[in-house]
Amino acid sequence: MGSRLLKRAGISPKTCEQLKRHNIESCKALELWKHYSDSRFLTSLPALDKVLRGGIPCGAITEVTGPFGCGKTQLCMMLSVVTTLPKELGGLDRSVIYIDTESAFSAERLVEIAQNRFPDYFSSREKVVQMAGRVHIFREMTCQDVFRRLEKLEEILIATKAGLIILDSVASVVRKEFDTTLPGNLLLRSNVLGEEATTLKYLAHQFNIPVVVTNQITTQIGGQGSGPDTEGDSGIVTAALGNTWAHSVNTRFILQYGDGHQRQLLVAKSPVAPFAVLNYTIQKEGFCMNGNDGEVTLYEGTDPSLQAIRVRTLINLDTP
Ligand code: GTP
Ligand code: MG
Repeated sequence: MGSRLLKRAGISPKTCEQLKRHNIESCKALELWKHYSDSRFLTSLPALDKVLRGGIPCGAITEVTGPFGCGKTQLCMMLSVVTTLPKELGGLDRSVIYIDTESAFSAERLVEIAQNRFPDYFSSREKVVQMAGRVHIFREMTCQDVFRRLEKLEEILIATKAGLIILDSVASVVRKEFDTTLPGNLLLRSNVLGEEATTLKYLAHQFNIPVVVTNQITTQIGGQGSGPDTEGDSGIVTAALGNTWAHSVNTRFILQYGDGHQRQLLVAKSPVAPFAVLNYTIQKEGFCMNGNDGEVTLYEGTDPSLQAIRVRTLINLDTP
C-alpha cells in the first residue's frame, strides 16, 4: 500500500510511517516470529520462560510483588547477571540500570549468584569484574530522587546501552512518604505512581527493553495487615497500589510463602500466559525453580491478584 494512497485515505503521517515500518502487506510469519522472539528476555528459569512464551516481555513493565523476604530482590539480582551474559549463553550482552530504593542490592551476592549459576563462564576474575561493571546501581531513597533519576534515564540508557531497567522497589518510597490514611494522599500517591509508570513505559517501549519493578507488601506476622495496602490476618494479605498502577503493569508475578520451605511464584497477569504456579527456592545460585525442567502447573481458581497472598508465618518461619 503506497503512502500517498494512505494519506489520501485520511490516515495520519505518523500512522503511515508505522504501517510502512511494519510493512503490513508483505510481512512474513518468520519476520513476526523473529520480532516476537527479540521482544522477550529469557530469565534462565525454563519453566517461567515457557509459561511466558519465551520470557519476560520487552517494551513493557513486569511487576514482582510479594511479602518481605520472599525473594524479589534475589530475582532482580539474578536477572541482572543474566542480562550481562553473552547471547550464546541466553543473555542480552547488555548492561543493567538498577534503581535501588532500599539499599538492598548487594554486590557480593550478585557475584555469588553469577559464580554459582554460571560457574564455567564466571570461572575467571576478569569475567566477574566485567559483569559487575555492567550493573549500574543508583541508590534513590526518596520519591523526588526516584523521579529525578527516571527523568535522566534516557541519556543514561543511551550511554550505557542498557538492556534492562530494575526499580527495586516502587512501593517503599511512596509508602514512606504518602500516609494514605490522611485525606488527599491517596490521590497524590496515585499521581506520583502514574507519572513514574508513564516514564518507565516510555523508556521500555522506546528502547524495546524489559522493565522490572518490585512491589513490597507490608504486613505484621500473624496479625492485622498494616494500613490500607493490606487486608486480612493470620499473615495473609492482598497487594495493591491502586488502580492506576495496576493498569500500568503488563505482567505481574506474585511471590508468596507456602508450607515449610516452599515458595511460589504465581503468574498473575500476562497478555500471553495463563495463570500459573511455579515452585521455587532461593539457593546460592539465586532464584531456582523446583525441578527446573520446564514443568508448569496451571493456577486453579480465579485471578490470583484478587486472592490473599501468603506471607511468612510461624509455620514457615524456619524457611532459610
Ligand atoms: P523485601 O525487599 O524485604 O520485601 O524482601 P525481598 O522479597 O526482596 O526478599 P529478598 O530478595 O531480599 O530475599 C530474602 C531471602 O532470600 C532470604 O529470606 C533468604 O531466604 C534468601 N537469601 C538472601 N540472601 C541470600 C544468600 O546470600 N544466600 C542464599 N542462599 N539465600 C539468600
Ligand atoms: Mg527486596
